[in-house]
Amino acid sequence: MTSDETNAPLPQVRLGATGPTTGVQGLGAMGMSEFYGDTDEAAARDTLDAALESGVTLIDTADVYGRGANEEFLAPFVAAHRDEITLATKFSMVRTDDPAYRGVRNDPAYVKAAVEGSLRRLGVDVIDLYYMHRRDPAVPLAESVGAMAELVREGKVRHLGLSEVTGPELREAHAVHPIAALQSEWSLFSRDVEVSAVPAAAELGVALVPYSPLGRGFLTGAFADAARDLPENDFRRTQPRFSGDNARSNAALLEPVRSLAAAHGATLAQIALAWVHQRAAVHGLTVVPIPGTRKRSRLLENAAATRIVLTASELDLLEPIATQVAGARYPDMSTTSAARES
Ligand SMILES: NC(=O)c1ccc[n+]([C@@H]2O[C@H](COP(=O)([O-])OP(=O)(O)OC[C@H]3O[C@@H](n4cnc5c(N)ncnc54)[C@H](OP(=O)(O)O)[C@@H]3O)[C@@H](O)[C@H]2O)c1
Repeated sequence: MTSDETNAPLPQVRLGATGPTTGVQGLGAMGMSEFYGDTDEAAARDTLDAALESGVTLIDTADVYGRGANEEFLAPFVAAHRDEITLATKFSMVRTDDPAYRGVRNDPAYVKAAVEGSLRRLGVDVIDLYYMHRRDPAVPLAESVGAMAELVREGKVRHLGLSEVTGPELREAHAVHPIAALQSEWSLFSRDVEVSAVPAAAELGVALVPYSPLGRGFLTGAFADAARDLPENDFRRTQPRFSGDNARSNAALLEPVRSLAAAHGATLAQIALAWVHQRAAVHGLTVVPIPGTRKRSRLLENAAATRIVLTASELDLLEPIATQVAGARYPDMSTTSAARES
């Protein structure tokens, strides 16, 4: 990849029929505050600047990342570049002082209160894309999405998104208010979203925003065993597929990724991202992955992946990987869309 290529701005795409227009790849900011070990604030801020310089304009956060700290961290960047970015955040995951606790709230009163917290922490009067992070099946979806639609009418939110919902849930929500984007895990290692959500999104014209498109870094070869290679405060140590025997057998699955990287003069990360981008043509929908990084060099590397084209035979080499992955993507899968599909 030449420096000219890495510096060319990304193509722009629209999320959903009436949603925002963004660069075809976004940036996940989660790791800048929590989950992936210690962070370097100056390097993270430099990464945000590199994103804008590259045309990476969809910036993804959530109220739960650092329990508000990630939104607060982004506020100065957002203030400086409000009209140049698409600001996406999420509500619904509830935490307490017990680090292991995770609750889910989707009731209308919670939705109305949550948006006020995000607006305040981000220092904005409107959020461009507001996602429901997880679904509580005890709350009728129409009530939750109805409350989110009310936020659009009140001018607090511009567009709506959902995360980790099934195809039927996406259809139900879209009938209440247009959904611009579905944010769900989608990568060479995680393809359960293809069961029902992807076909529904394609049919409805909803964009897919794949999260963890680099398999939380495992697909890049940056670590091979979370329990051995990553610090105590790294969330990936809790994920069954990244440690011990599972990690050993999963690392072997990267061989075709490695060989394609060599053939393209690319990195493993770039091949993993190119694969996600090419799902757009395979499934007939708009795909805007949001790889997370805290480093300028990786941001540029990841942005350049949008220009790699894998041939049909190369895609065939990657096709069997996901079915062979050992271990689930979360220690507790109960709030994922997959749990409501089985
Ligand atoms: N909706 C949801 O439920 C949900 C769940 C998880 C995440 N998300 C969102 O999705 C975003 C992305 O997901 P993610 O951060 O979990 O996983 P990811 O993008 O698959 O991987 C991020 C990891 O890969 C490393 N990395 C990035 N680029 C690299 C490269 N070129 N070479 C080597 N390593 C590289 C990063 O390290 P460095 O930071 O050190 O570069 C980080 O450890 C998050 O930031 C968050 O906004 C949403």
